[in-house]
Amino acid sequence: MKALVVYDSAYGNTRQVAEAIVAGLGPQAQAVSVTDFQATALTEGDLLVVGSPINGWRPTPKITELLSSLGDGRLAGVKAAAFDTRVRLFIHGDAARKMTESLKAGGAEIISKPMPFYVKGSEGPLRSGELDKAAAWAADLLKRVGG
Ligand SMILES: Cc1cc2nc3c(=O)[nH]c(=O)nc-3n(C[C@H](O)[C@H](O)[C@H](O)COP(=O)(O)O)c2cc1C
Repeated sequence: MKALVVYDSAYGNTRQVAEAIVAGLGPQAQAVSVTDFQATALTEGDLLVVGSPINGWRPTPKITELLSSLGDGRLAGVKAAAFDTRVRLFIHGDAARKMTESLKAGGAEIISKPMPFYVKGSEGPLRSGELDKAAAWAADLLKRVGG
């Protein structure tokens, strides 16, 4: 089983979460910036984790474009989960849920609820404990993929 954690990140916070997830998933995992991602790198049984900051209540345009390109069953046989980074506001919108729906539309088997991680302000930093939360989430994902 190979695991790819694909992310977009303007200020580095989502990248940090992606890297903490990769560290938790172990040596078969790799963090990949959205601009470098190749869908052909995934085969049956692999894990795809997608992460984006919430920008205006939704994932970034690059992540949205990537996920649209994976529609029509291109993710059949792949296990998947999504996370976002966001500020803790009364109304913050959602990106992880939308990404999870797109992954499902692409035919992936969703193995986790959408996961939010919190930053203190638009440029960060991450709130304390969020990288530990990322490591714990990675351990949970590993159990669910049977790794
Ligand atoms: C243009 C823009 C729009 C944003 N919109 C939202 C939003 O709708 N909801 C939210 O919770 N955070 C919003 N944020 C805060 C981002 O979620 C925060 O900048 C991001 O988590 C930082 O991650 P990054 O360092 O990986 O870019 C916005 C930030 C920017 C720059």
